[in-house]
Amino acid sequence: MNSKTRTRVLTGITTTGTPHLGNYVGAIRPTVQASRDTSTDGFYFLADYHALIKCDEPARIQRSTLEIAASWIASGLDPDKVTFYRQSDIPEIPELTWLLTCVTGKGVLNRAHAYKAAVDKNNAAGHDTDADVTAGLFMYPVLMGADILMFKAHKVPVGRDQIQHIEMARDMAASFNHLYGEHFVLPEAVIEESVALLPGLDGRKMSKSYDNTIPLFAPASQMRKQIAGIVTDSKAPGEPKATEGSALFQIYQAFASAEETNAMARAYAEGIGWGDAKQMLFERIDREIAPMREHYQSLIDHPAQMDHILLAGADKARQLATPFMRELRHAVGLRALSSGQVASVAKEAKTALPSFKQYREKDGQFYFKLVDAKGQVLLQSRGFASPKEAGQVVARLQAEGTAGLRELDDVLEPLTGDALAVLVANLQLLMQVAPNPSK
Ligand code: TRP
Repeated sequence: MNSKTRTRVLTGITTTGTPHLGNYVGAIRPTVQASRDTSTDGFYFLADYHALIKCDEPARIQRSTLEIAASWIASGLDPDKVTFYRQSDIPEIPELTWLLTCVTGKGVLNRAHAYKAAVDKNNAAGHDTDADVTAGLFMYPVLMGADILMFKAHKVPVGRDQIQHIEMARDMAASFNHLYGEHFVLPEAVIEESVALLPGLDGRKMSKSYDNTIPLFAPASQMRKQIAGIVTDSKAPGEPKATEGSALFQIYQAFASAEETNAMARAYAEGIGWGDAKQMLFERIDREIAPMREHYQSLIDHPAQMDHILLAGADKARQLATPFMRELRHAVGLRALSSGQVASVAKEAKTALPSFKQYREKDGQFYFKLVDAKGQVLLQSRGFASPKEAGQVVARLQAEGTAGLRELDDVLEPLTGDALAVLVANLQLLMQVAPNPSK
């Protein structure tokens, strides 16, 4: 299959920490496996611009970028088979971010989870709504949209917390396409259900924010020590142990075959001592990690080699990004003044706006529909008992655009695919032009 027909899969990793076993099991390992599927075209990148949003320590950003890049390569990502690059090596990304900023409703960004959480926290504490909130945090979804749309990704594997961002990227793509023609692919989030959520040392989800992680490529002696620190109950050797709720068992399972896992379950039932169980866990993890550890260390010891790999990846990425950005600049009117387009302003005039029409049917109920400039029906409501009810839904759609739409499933005829994309684009357009419907 050539690259035109291959499904393009893209994902980014924010460069703020040291990869741990949870990252490995939850993201690195499944992604490396998926990257070997020759029917897909993989784009994997280090989201270091995103890192600046939450980290102001330059040395940490640099170190984390090296560690994460080395972890991916040591875990088997083949930079010759995929496009592996650093976000900040692609100047077209911030350039596209601005074009997308100009087709994104501010109200949409107000509802982004990360921003909203910060605002809610401030409000709860009685602080100014936007205290300590940077515009970078607010703009996070737009930068992410640029990452995705720049490379026309079809599928974006992410954690659940990121689904909203992919939906926003879709909306940005639909708005832009509606205004300027079909340039972007509408991406879809992919949530890997089967991937294990790894518990950490204390039994809660392994996460940097809980300080309960086991670094992926710590020296073996350190990994053994940390595994010894996994919380267990106080049952003595010889007493049967429960696998249910045992963090040690769950971590073991994430690395072991079904057979090995069954054997461990039997050992639990037969009263294996915690010390022995921890030794078994260490050996099982080390069997998988040890062969990669040496490679990792040699990459860390030769950062210039890593630079080289990443710059080659950026080169490959920019072979797409540079001409695409040229196309997009032209599309929005950032063009050579001599390019012969000046006279055709009228022809390119903004697409006429869609409008809401309210009416009463023979059944006595009140309805509304959204029609585009050519009279095509984009959206059809169900019947309402009063014109006021119908009007309230219209007002909500005007004020909230697609976000409003999502909560109105029951009052609208279900829409899918292209019809939905067209509707989304139209609602976004309405929101930009008439942000305050109460006037
Ligand atoms: N925001 C993502 C995260 O924190 C990282 C990221 C940045 C990303 N840009 C992306 C993921 C584009 C997928 C696609 O997990």
